[in-house]
Amino acid sequence: MDLLSLARNVKHRVEEPLTDALTVAKIVTDPRNPVLLTLSTALVNPLYRAAFLASAAGSGVLRCLAVRPCDLESLAEYLDIPEDDRPRLRAWLETGVRLGELGRREGCYRLKSPTARLLAQPGNDAVAAALEEILRFHVPVLLDAPRMLSAGRRFSLQDQDGTVIARSSLALRSMVQAAIDRTLDREGPVRLLEIGCGTGAYVRYAAESNPRLTAVAVDLQQEVAARAADNMAAWGLTERVETRQGDLRTLDLQPQFDLVTLHNNIYYFPETERVEALERARSLLAPGGRMLLTTSCQGGGNLGLDVLNLWFTYADFGGPLPQADELVSQMEKAGFTDVRATRIIPGQPFRAFVGTNSPVHSA
Ligand SMILES: C[S@@+](CC[C@H](N)C(=O)[O-])C[C@H]1O[C@@H](n2cnc3c(N)ncnc32)[C@H](O)[C@@H]1O
Repeated sequence: MDLLSLARNVKHRVEEPLTDALTVAKIVTDPRNPVLLTLSTALVNPLYRAAFLASAAGSGVLRCLAVRPCDLESLAEYLDIPEDDRPRLRAWLETGVRLGELGRREGCYRLKSPTARLLAQPGNDAVAAALEEILRFHVPVLLDAPRMLSAGRRFSLQDQDGTVIARSSLALRSMVQAAIDRTLDREGPVRLLEIGCGTGAYVRYAAESNPRLTAVAVDLQQEVAARAADNMAAWGLTERVETRQGDLRTLDLQPQFDLVTLHNNIYYFPETERVEALERARSLLAPGGRMLLTTSCQGGGNLGLDVLNLWFTYADFGGPLPQADELVSQMEKAGFTDVRATRIIPGQPFRAFVGTNSPVHSA
């Protein structure tokens, strides 16, 4: 029973014997109660709501309910939940009703809160995925950091659900697309290699911007690459885009590309290995080809990025977000010329870095 319900109960039970009322009054006036009440309203309830919404969005329940109100059976069928587990699904949905995110009328669940309605919109999928990323990855590092240090434990790539990260990464879509607009030749044949393609959305954007572009889209994580390949098929791009699972560090490709792109993944490489990774990317470019790398950088005063940085500090791979001038110098060490770093939006920590594989250097 929460504190508000307890207080209401006391009010309704004043008719009961004095000793009982006194005992209850003693409990209600416990000096710890205001602290608990503050915790519950300021921290716990929003956390419950966020977790419910992230799960409802990630599982597709919000999208389903956005189409029409659904009863338990149709939701269970949609989620492929066996008969035995349907009471458990009901318990979860009822908690959503209790939290005020869902409503229920005549046995059918529907979207109730404005936030649930917003997150159910397909255009807000990246925001819903970002909420899920925060809960699944940012919260654990805040929660477990001291324990992980005592146990000598680190996060690994398997601790990240690559498909959630690929979706949430698209929250940066408008800035990445602006960087592509500034770099990509819109006419003539372009051979693009995208490293860490995630959903493949930026390869699609490049392909739509230049109808003569062909591409190889690579991602380290098998399930991410498989999802990107499905997306390419759905977008009608399989003829022009080859999607494969692969690691930049070991890719077996000819130096044939006019443009290599790395969006939001330089921090998947430890700082000490970044020059080597960049040199590897350069080696896949044709003479005169260019690299476009986009990433959030340190120093933006953005708390979410600070926690992302913290996560990578506790991981057995990757490293912190780059410092802009350090990354410029790493690109130069990797052999790029004409290296430029541009802020896409003034005051924002997100930057685009462009460098050229000069014909002289690559000869
Ligand atoms: C944060 S996600 C970004 C996805 C996408 N580029 C975007 O911006 O939406 C980083 C992606 O880079 C991939 N990645 C990391 N290291 C890689 C490597 N060595 N080779 C290929 N892909 C890599 C990860 O698997 C992950 O899908």
